[in-house]
Amino acid sequence: MSELEHLLASNKRWAKALVSDKPGFFTDLSQQQAPEYLWIGCSDSRVPANQITGLAPGEVFVHRNIANVVVHSDLNCLSVVQYAVEVLKVKHIIVCGHYGCGGVKAAMGKKKHGLIDNWLLHIRDIHRFYRSEIDSCSSEEARFERLCEKNVIEQAFNVCSSTVVQSAWAKGSELSVHGWIYAIKDGLIHDLDVSMSGLEDFEKISR
Ligand code: CO
Repeated sequence: MSELEHLLASNKRWAKALVSDKPGFFTDLSQQQAPEYLWIGCSDSRVPANQITGLAPGEVFVHRNIANVVVHSDLNCLSVVQYAVEVLKVKHIIVCGHYGCGGVKAAMGKKKHGLIDNWLLHIRDIHRFYRSEIDSCSSEEARFERLCEKNVIEQAFNVCSSTVVQSAWAKGSELSVHGWIYAIKDGLIHDLDVSMSGLEDFEKISR
């Protein structure tokens, strides 16, 4: 018997319950997916996109990595964005970070972690960029929270400045990019008010 038998059993119960509630659910879903949202979030096990937004399978396209970073040379992330925008035609891209993010915390410290430090350099850059604002926070906890928020905002900008989103906007596609942050301590998402729906918004906010 597999050590993971409990997961497979749990999966069977889940699928059965879903079908008894909505007959034909999986048959319909197997024909197509038409999600309205692309979620770019942290890999943290405490921040599962579907569950915290109450979305069912088929309703959100998801990309997650450590500290929800969007790098312009990351073909993985860019391919997800391109597919979501050009093929699935999502209407919203949500970059959702979270307070207490281990990746952001590691980027603030001096301790070495090996390979992952290269990835976290992107967050160190953001820390340096907002150094005076972050350092003016009253406590270490407040500085940590502020960098978690700034990281979301910068990654939302990175999504907006990608060639995929820029050309979608140039063609007049209906597409908005949002920056959210999730609080693990109470399960609530906060909108960081940086939503951008076109080239004008992007230029205004990035100024
Ligand atoms: Co995280």
